[in-house]
Amino acid sequence: MTKIECIIRPGKLEDVKEALDRFGIKGMTVTQVIGCGLQKGRTEVYRGREYSINLLPKIKVEIVVRDDQVDGVIRTISEAARTGQIGDGKIFTHRVENAARIRTGEQGEDAI
Ligand SMILES: Nc1ncnc2c1ncn2[C@@H]1O[C@H](COP(=O)(O)OP(=O)(O)OP(=O)(O)O)[C@@H](O)[C@H]1O
Ligand SMILES: [Mg+2]
Repeated sequence: MTKIECIIRPGKLEDVKEALDRFGIKGMTVTQVIGCGLQKGRTEVYRGREYSINLLPKIKVEIVVRDDQVDGVIRTISEAARTGQIGDGKIFTHRVENAARIRTGEQGEDAI
């Protein structure tokens, strides 16, 4: 299993959620975060104003998937989250050792 962690623009969350739903993804965790990338946030515009601070509001979406889903999920997120402007975000992948569904006791891929 793999955890896909993506940092996207807040305004792209709905598009990304819908695209992931169409792909068949069920579970996800969404967190409001702040962050910066190459430009240190300086030149980005958020909701019409240019930020002088260097940490911009972003959304983090975490999804644990089967390994055979990883490429498709990365493609799906990339297409849904892209504007072509700086600050579109980033996707990180991590190996996941195990998962357990608390209600049933299922483990591994059966639990995601
Ligand atoms: N190396 C990194 N480690 C952790 N988080 C990162 C890293 N790079 C980017 N992020 C997170 O992703 C968000 C979006 O990054 P961003 O899209 O600006 O990346 P970038 O490398 O600057 O690319 P671009 O030139 O397209 O803006 C950042 O605000 C930060 O939260
Ligand atoms: Mg950037």
